[in-house]
Amino acid sequence: MKIDFAKLQYQYQRYKNEIDSAIHAVLNKSNYIMGEEVDLLERELEAFTEAKHAIVCSSGTDALLLAMMALDIQPGDEIITTPFTFIATAETIALMKATPVFVDIQPDSYNIDPSKIEAAITPKTKAIMPVSLYGQPPDLDEIKAIADKHKLKVIIDGAQSFGATYKGKSDSALGDISCTSFFPAKPLGCYGDGGAVFTDNDALAEKMRMLRVHGQGQRYHHKYIGIGGRLDTLQAAVLLAKLPHYRKEIEMRQQVAQSYNNKLPNGLGLNLPHIKADRTSVWAQYTLSTGQRSLLQERLQKAGIPTAIHYPKPLHLQECFEYLNHKVGDFPIAEKAANEVISLPMNPFLTESELDFIADNLREK
Ligand SMILES: Cc1ncc(COP(=O)(O)O)c(C=O)c1O
Repeated sequence: MKIDFAKLQYQYQRYKNEIDSAIHAVLNKSNYIMGEEVDLLERELEAFTEAKHAIVCSSGTDALLLAMMALDIQPGDEIITTPFTFIATAETIALMKATPVFVDIQPDSYNIDPSKIEAAITPKTKAIMPVSLYGQPPDLDEIKAIADKHKLKVIIDGAQSFGATYKGKSDSALGDISCTSFFPAKPLGCYGDGGAVFTDNDALAEKMRMLRVHGQGQRYHHKYIGIGGRLDTLQAAVLLAKLPHYRKEIEMRQQVAQSYNNKLPNGLGLNLPHIKADRTSVWAQYTLSTGQRSLLQERLQKAGIPTAIHYPKPLHLQECFEYLNHKVGDFPIAEKAANEVISLPMNPFLTESELDFIADNLREK
């Protein structure tokens, strides 16, 4: 049996007619930049998330940049974030010439530990940037209470969690600004790079709309230094075709996760993913931790089952952040996670027999 990690081709074949006609409609209009599909998609994303404003952009990375530019983050400002995430979270902070200040994670959710945030706040702290890792929102009430107390902004890096909820609300609607990614392998993916920012704040929304097109409000009149950060009309069309299927796909991902939880063998010392009761995950990844990672990876590889490690090196130990002078032991929970996590194939279309095959091959033969 050949297992496909994300089944993107399979998904395309399922929705081929809708996706092809959406793409052809754009080709026939040749409205490649800021076509009406972009606007339509933004209205659909607002309806989906209940955020007041959705502004689509060129990637999840650019979404983070737009958020920080809109909040006027300055060189030397500090932004508190997690060391256990994809590089873009802290990389964009550094690109703004601000300083990423890492705070360790919780061992069960792998998300930032709010009980450790206050100790990291200094007079230079301007924002907290939690990540909804693997598709599960972090402890947003606790994070927002700390932010309110210290007059900080909250930028949610929800690149992996579009559609996830926290106490019944989309995490896209819960930050001062929330960001997401539509990278193809994300739960809601387009066919290239894409992302979005969300906010309930009218002024921030207007500013981000301008920042996305070189800071211009009116053509060739530039109020801000911005970026070329638009989402292509073609990508908007793909997303518009896929969005009507997305709620169902989230449910299917949740069922796949449940099946994994039921089928994976006991006795291998696997720590299965833990989703807190007051929130939902969109299962960008099904990631578990184990002291026997190499062994299990090898077993699965022999059976042709792909796995991935999200992420093998925490950000405080990355070469690009050497200037922050961190060392091994600074964030022990993130370091342990980096040594022990392994992601199994995850997509809405995994069948029971594929899941059985994966579970069986984890066992010693
Ligand atoms: C947590 C996190 N932040 C940011 C990004 C950046 O998104 P993109 O690849 O769309 O630029 C990603 C995904 O790749 C991510 O997983």
